[in-house]
Amino acid sequence: MKVGVLTGGGDCPGLNAVIRGVVRKGVQEYGYEFTGFKDGWRGAVEGDAVPLGIPAVRGILPRGGTILGSSRTNPFTLDDGVRQIRDTLAKHEVDALIAIGGEDTLGVAARLHAEYGIPCVGVPKTIDNDLSATDYTFGFDTAVGIATEAIDRLHTTAESHMRVLVVEVMGRHAGWIALHSGLAGGANAILIPEQRFDLDQVCAWVTSRFKASYAPIVVVAEGAVPKDGDMVLKDATTDSFGHVRLSGVGEWLAKEIEARTGKEARTTVLGHVQRGGTPSAFDRWLATRFGLHAVDAVRDGAFGTMVALRGTDIVRVPLAEATARLKTVDPALYREAGVFFG
Ligand code: F6P
Repeated sequence: MKVGVLTGGGDCPGLNAVIRGVVRKGVQEYGYEFTGFKDGWRGAVEGDAVPLGIPAVRGILPRGGTILGSSRTNPFTLDDGVRQIRDTLAKHEVDALIAIGGEDTLGVAARLHAEYGIPCVGVPKTIDNDLSATDYTFGFDTAVGIATEAIDRLHTTAESHMRVLVVEVMGRHAGWIALHSGLAGGANAILIPEQRFDLDQVCAWVTSRFKASYAPIVVVAEGAVPKDGDMVLKDATTDSFGHVRLSGVGEWLAKEIEARTGKEARTTVLGHVQRGGTPSAFDRWLATRFGLHAVDAVRDGAFGTMVALRGTDIVRVPLAEATARLKTVDPALYREAGVFFG
């Protein structure tokens, strides 16, 4: 049995831990061979492959990024993408494919399996934690830790200068990073993509915080949108999955707050720092277990499934179901955080 492995979409702490888990268990317990495809679906389309044996996965558990590289290549937007993937799998005698990715990468895997019978197993990754069917994706815990540390550090500058500090975190469709890091870091306003924000209300929170002789920290997810306006973008170009490149709302918000409240307001955009570096212990644990269970799914012929965390159990769910809708922040959960606004 030969198994192909690829990592697609934005990189995420824990990708290497999955690859290691897959290869170690597959080689040691089942005698499988592995081929890594470089840069997500690009490698599968173009036949860019590397052998993946145990020596290749030694020492990678704590390393961020992915030893296989990543890209946002979408084979369905290419002329002959699916045929090329089939040719690559045949050429490398690959019997099954483990795709590690978010909604886009796994959406491709779901279609390749459902429409073309390609035997795929999915592993959910994204710092955004927005994949339904799993309680958590790996990478999220690390990103929340990094954002929380940044908020902690920004509090001291906010207080020393009595400024408003706006922190823009990642979160395209879902505000999980903003909500968790904002709560953990004691933010005075948390703005998420799921709920349009009212600028007057944000300014009222800022003003009331200054009245209490403290300086406010406003955490805003990059996908958050003002109530009376459009999404704030620096760049409207889209990737092959149709997503615009986000970031810009933090800068815009600081300018608006400063103009309306008369208080100096500055922005810190955390950007890729949230995805960089070593994964947290939780993410290493989750990613490793996902890898072990993904190779078991291959052994059982459970193609068209994705491994998922439910409580502390790893289960299998249909890929089609897992990629059908995103997991967004429940309004009740968001309201809960409101006690600390202002
Ligand atoms: O999906 C994960 C994510 O980090 C999003 O939060 C963000 O919008 C996007 O990827 C950014 O991707 P890129 O690094 O390719 O611009």
